[in-house]
Amino acid sequence: MILISGATGNVGRHLVGGLLDQGEKFRILVRDERKVAHLGQGVERVVGDLNKPETLAAAMRGVDRLYFVTPEPQQVLNLLEAARTAGVRHVVKQSTIEADRSLGPGRWHREQEELVESYGFEWTFLRPTMLMVNVIEWWGATIKSHGAVYFPGGKGRVPPVDPRDVAAVAARVLTSPGHTGRIYELTGLEALTIGEMVSILGKVLGKRIRYVNVPAFLAAIWMRRFGLPAYLVDGLMETLGALRRSEYAYVTDAVLSVTGCPPGSFDAWCRDNIAAFL
Ligand SMILES: NC(=O)c1ccc[n+]([C@@H]2O[C@H](COP(=O)([O-])OP(=O)(O)OC[C@H]3O[C@@H](n4cnc5c(N)ncnc54)[C@H](OP(=O)(O)O)[C@@H]3O)[C@@H](O)[C@H]2O)c1
Repeated sequence: MILISGATGNVGRHLVGGLLDQGEKFRILVRDERKVAHLGQGVERVVGDLNKPETLAAAMRGVDRLYFVTPEPQQVLNLLEAARTAGVRHVVKQSTIEADRSLGPGRWHREQEELVESYGFEWTFLRPTMLMVNVIEWWGATIKSHGAVYFPGGKGRVPPVDPRDVAAVAARVLTSPGHTGRIYELTGLEALTIGEMVSILGKVLGKRIRYVNVPAFLAAIWMRRFGLPAYLVDGLMETLGALRRSEYAYVTDAVLSVTGCPPGSFDAWCRDNIAAFL
C-alpha cells in the first residue's frame, strides 16, 4: 500500500491520476476532503494534518511506501515517526534541485533528506527544477489584467519541468524496483530564459505579453507585501539569483530514463493550461 501526502498539490494530483491509471493500491492523506470530492469513492483517503501527529497513524495503516512533499521540519518528523511505527519500507521525497548545494529552499530540503536517511528507510529523492505550473501563480493575474509579466529573471536560463513528468517519475519510483538510494534531478527539455517563456506563452495565448525584468530588491518588497515571511523571501531570492546566473540551466535525462518518455515542452504545457491565463 502506498500513501500519498500532498495529493492535492501541483505534482500530487497528477500522481493520483497516474496510480489510478496503473491500477495501484494507494491511499491519500488530505486535510480537506472536499478538495478530493471529484475523485469519487475510487480513491481511499484519510483526513489528517501533518501538524497533528495523532491523525497520521490511521493514514499509515498497512503502508509500505510513502510519498511526501513538505520541507517543514516538524511535519517531516511527524510523518517519519508515524511511518517508522507503521513499518514503512520506502520513502520517496519530493525535494528540489537546489538541495545539491543547500541553496535557498534547497537548504531546508537537504536537511529533511538527511533526516529521512537517518531513519534508515530505503529512500529516493526527486529533485525537480522550477515547475512549469508556477507561472500561473506568478504571472497569471498580471497577464489577465494588463498583458504583462513582472519577474526578476534577467537573462538567466532554467529548464522548467512539467509537474506531470515529476508525477510520472514518482509513480515509477513507487511501483518498480531499482530506485532506492537514487537522487533524480528532474528538468524539462530545454533551458529557457524568462523572456523566452513569456514569448512562448504569448504565442499560445495569441496575445502580446510584455516582460518586465524587475530588480530583485523590488521583487523582495512585493513578496513581503504579499505576506511571505522574511526567511522564505530570503530563500526565494537566493533561488532567483541562481536563476539569473543560469546556475541551474542544465538539462538531465532523468525523466526519460525513469519513465521511458521524454519530458514535455513548455509550449505543450502552455497549450494544455491555456484556460488559466484567460
Ligand atoms: N513549485 C516548484 O517550482 C518546486 C520546484 C522544486 C521543488 N518544489 C518543492 O515541492 C514541494 C511542494 O511545493 P508546491 O509549491 O508544488 O506545493 P504543492 O505540492 O502544490 O502543495 C502542497 C501540498 O501539501 C499539502 N499540505 C500542506 N500543508 C499540509 C498539512 N499541514 N497537512 C497535510 N497536507 C498538507 C497541501 O494540501 P492542501 O490542499 O490541504 O493545502 C498540498 O497538497 C515544496 O517543498 C517545494 O519546495 C517546488
